[in-house]
Amino acid sequence: MPHTIAICAGSFDPPTDGHLNIISRGLNIFDRLIVAVAVNMSKTPIFTAEERVELLKEIYKNEPRIEVDSFSGLLAEYAKAKKISTILRGIRNMSDYEYESQMALANKTLGGLETIFMMTEGKYAHVSSSIIKEVITYGGNAHGMTHPLVEARLKEKLRQK
Ligand code: COA
Repeated sequence: MPHTIAICAGSFDPPTDGHLNIISRGLNIFDRLIVAVAVNMSKTPIFTAEERVELLKEIYKNEPRIEVDSFSGLLAEYAKAKKISTILRGIRNMSDYEYESQMALANKTLGGLETIFMMTEGKYAHVSSSIIKEVITYGGNAHGMTHPLVEARLKEKLRQK
């Protein structure tokens, strides 16, 4: 069997349990995953790229099959530099589908990349990075939406504001 590897790219601002669920299920399909944090996105992030990388590294410190990295510019260029041609993404609903299909086609055209989609598990269908930030901002708890480490860091961040 050939060695299989995919890039799971995202803003991860912050990573959600939906993201982590796709990543852990991805490990049932691929031998290795590169979790790649996108830098210089048009969105203004709450966590710097370095902080997001550090969070993901901490979460996956006992998972040797995961490498956490960051990239700026086009994903297709990053994938080419890494000599990887497969992208793994999660889809929650039809609006994700529209956005994701456009991105998959762009990545196919730009770099011949194949995108493998996994349906997000139903219990994470309502979870997004923005919802988590809102819940924490208003003093709620984000159990079941994100990793406890992310929740703790987010509380610190939002308290500093
Ligand atoms: N479960 C739950 N939530 C999920 C999810 C899942 N499986 N997958 C995504 N989400 C949510 C996130 O929480 C986030 O929520 P928000 O809108 O509230 O912030 C949103 O969906 C999307 O975030 P994320 O998955 O982190 O990625 P993204 O869509 O911001 O980033 C990149 C996508 C980085 C892969 C893409 O923009 C990219 O490749 N950028 C580089 C430039 C490029 O090459 N563009 C494409 C060709 S032009």
